[in-house]
Amino acid sequence: MADELVAWSDDFSVGNSTIDEQHKELVRMTNEFYAGCQMGGVMAKVYFLKTIQGAVRYVRTHFSTEEEIMQKANYPGFDAHKQQHENFVAEVTQQVQLFEHDDNPDPAEFVKYLMNWVLQHIANVDKQYMPFIAQLEQ
Ligand SMILES: [Fe+2]
Repeated sequence: MADELVAWSDDFSVGNSTIDEQHKELVRMTNEFYAGCQMGGVMAKVYFLKTIQGAVRYVRTHFSTEEEIMQKANYPGFDAHKQQHENFVAEVTQQVQLFEHDDNPDPAEFVKYLMNWVLQHIANVDKQYMPFIAQLEQ
């Protein structure tokens, strides 16, 4: 798809099917979100504000799943990891508020930021728990 920001690759796998499926869904949602923002102008702003709430809800659900799995595995980096999740949700919530009052917002740029955060988080932060959760049953 021309408007797709990124395609899922098995390089993103953390070796846990529940988490991988949710990560795939996050990538799918972000691509769809990005494509929807291409219409530009006020339409993109309306679309963005309507869609971001559902996206944030999904991200929260995903973070909870991941945190539960890390706890089950007694992952030593749990606190720092959870903090990253909380910081991200706080940052996005604040950005959405600013966005609502912005006369000339650029939702596609913001969605790119979301996608970059998700991908670098999977590659650099989620990957660190991989050896710890490997022994859990799936
Ligand atoms: Fe994470």
